[in-house]
Amino acid sequence: MRIYKTKRGLRKALDTQPKELVVGFVPTMGALHQGHLSLVLAAKDKADIVVVSIFVNPTQFDRQEDLDHYPSTLETDIALLKDAGCDFVFVPAVSEMYADTVKSHPFDFGGLQNVMEGAHRKGHFDGVGTIVKGLFEIVRPDLAFFGEKDFQQLQIIKKMVMQNKFPVKIIGIPIYREPDGLAMSSRNTRLTPEYRQAAPFIYKTLKQAKELFGTKNAVEVSEWVVQVFKKHPLLKLEYFTIADETSLQPIQKQKSTQKYRAFIAVFAGDIRLIDNIALY
Ligand code: PAF
Repeated sequence: MRIYKTKRGLRKALDTQPKELVVGFVPTMGALHQGHLSLVLAAKDKADIVVVSIFVNPTQFDRQEDLDHYPSTLETDIALLKDAGCDFVFVPAVSEMYADTVKSHPFDFGGLQNVMEGAHRKGHFDGVGTIVKGLFEIVRPDLAFFGEKDFQQLQIIKKMVMQNKFPVKIIGIPIYREPDGLAMSSRNTRLTPEYRQAAPFIYKTLKQAKELFGTKNAVEVSEWVVQVFKKHPLLKLEYFTIADETSLQPIQKQKSTQKYRAFIAVFAGDIRLIDNIALY
């Protein structure tokens, strides 16, 4: 496994590879867990060469506190990637990805960016779009792998690929969960034992909401979720939305031809956790 810190170094290395080999790419912000490794495994399965980037992208953080405390475990990450059979790791500094100004570009993802995470984290998807576009231009992957935990991000990346006509196929990988149901996230390591114990309530509620959606309408299910979180002593609901899986727009009139998904964001103290579930 080879590690590169510069765009030029990585590009040069990739240019020496036989053209017919399929390049699979997994962009990450490090602090790797089993969820990331499931993306690397999928990339190993479908591609000949696997490239993983580790870059904590400052422009996608809306809270300085979140950026300052984002976990960093580079040595362990490198060891995990080596074991997983990754071929190239790209670990650029901020100055390598953002030359003069650490700023994102404005994007219009056809409205996908205005709801849920986009509505609650100002500038988040401009930051994601800027960095993922930049990384795609460097790596030029044939396949790129993203986790469904960030389902809105996944749909936005698919949109960006279409808008820019990038010759890359985006592959979404199912959410990887802890045995107690909590969706794996690098931020989970920052939960105090008390909050960590409480956090599986999020997925438990999503599963119950899914069941209720069989007999109740979206407004009733949403009201029920708001009520159960109001009663919770530790977890604070930021939003719960039932939305169309493709347009991500909140459900209006339920149609049997559409696929819906429930999305949730919750504060466990200072730590913000997101999750989602397919409702079909
Ligand atoms: O999902 C993430 O870890 C990040 O948003 C990504 C895609 C690596 C861009 O910084």
